[in-house]
Amino acid sequence: HLISWDPVAAEKGEYRHFMQKEIHEQVRSLTDTLAGRVDFDEGQIRLPQLNLTPDLARRIQKIIITACGTAAHAGMVGKVLIERIARIPVEVDIASEFRYRDPIVDQNTVVLAISQSGETADTLAAMDEGRKRGAVLWSIVNAIGSQAMRIADGYISMQTGPEIGVASTKAFTAPLVDLYMLAVLLADLRGVLDSTRRKQLVSDLRLIPDLVGRCLDRENEIIPVAREMKYIRNMLYLGRGINMPIAYEGALKLKEISYIHAEAYPAGEMKHGPIALVDRDMPVLAIAPQDPWYEKMISQIEQAKTRGGSVIVVATEGDTRVPELADHVFWVPPTPWLLSPVVTVIPLQLFAYHIASLRGLDVDQPRNLAKSVTVE
Ligand code: G6P
Repeated sequence: HLISWDPVAAEKGEYRHFMQKEIHEQVRSLTDTLAGRVDFDEGQIRLPQLNLTPDLARRIQKIIITACGTAAHAGMVGKVLIERIARIPVEVDIASEFRYRDPIVDQNTVVLAISQSGETADTLAAMDEGRKRGAVLWSIVNAIGSQAMRIADGYISMQTGPEIGVASTKAFTAPLVDLYMLAVLLADLRGVLDSTRRKQLVSDLRLIPDLVGRCLDRENEIIPVAREMKYIRNMLYLGRGINMPIAYEGALKLKEISYIHAEAYPAGEMKHGPIALVDRDMPVLAIAPQDPWYEKMISQIEQAKTRGGSVIVVATEGDTRVPELADHVFWVPPTPWLLSPVVTVIPLQLFAYHIASLRGLDVDQPRNLAKSVTVE
């Protein structure tokens, strides 16, 4: 007998697509992300490959995060984390814009590139620009030995394993955790963190893999919603504060693999334009976990609801107000708010995945897109 052996199918295991497999790998990849970096007994973060000395930490006056696509959305969360925890001003700049902007950079500026592949042409060019202007160059990279890792003065490796699906998932959540660890380390070295708060921030990290697992356990609640919505033409994603970038990331996932027009807005901007779009044919997806922006999100959801749009809300288990307003709820477990984007993005990844898969599309290789864009 000849037994046929398909190496690609074998690698996908029980999953239909790499994207679905990679979404489910996030419990493991986040466990690996923490491995060796977090000393839970001492409440300390260790990122030796960053080459961050106390002297350098105190000297930094500004951090410019530069990246493309999904990595740039991780950077937007990083801005909130670093500013809140370490009190260092952070700008986020799309790599293809940064290099042509005549940016204001000096030797007390860190240019921090985020890249799954470490080979994105625009991101490498932005690093180059930073180097020419005398900045300290850091990177957060998944592909070991890639350019973005080699040319940096210091790096954090994502420790998430190879990612095959073009739509990035596990290489989004890993850098969120890396940026959180970086923020805590910077804060500690700059002396802006008392030891009780530091220990609390560090110990919160321990919860993450389990909380992500609990989001994944709810996949079966997302599939019927994806089935109901699979023929929609448009979708509006809304978020605020630390979860505003998650609206961008959720919308990007839907566009990339489902070819459904999705737009993301900081929810407070609704009244300045996008609310005009909301009617029966414009479903709204609002991200409203228990974070400091929760009350603001509730009032945005009420406004969308009055205008007839169907509303899906990502909310925290136990919330009693959201179910009264929403047509569908994607539940996430209670999570310390600085880490909430790591959980709120999971249902959005699953939702986009199931819509694309129900539409019979090529989830892992969407049209016109490449995993790594090495040309300008
Ligand atoms: C491509 C991929 C995206 C990715 C972006 C940045 O557009 O399709 O999924 O987010 O490049 O890639 P990088 O490897 O730099 O993270």
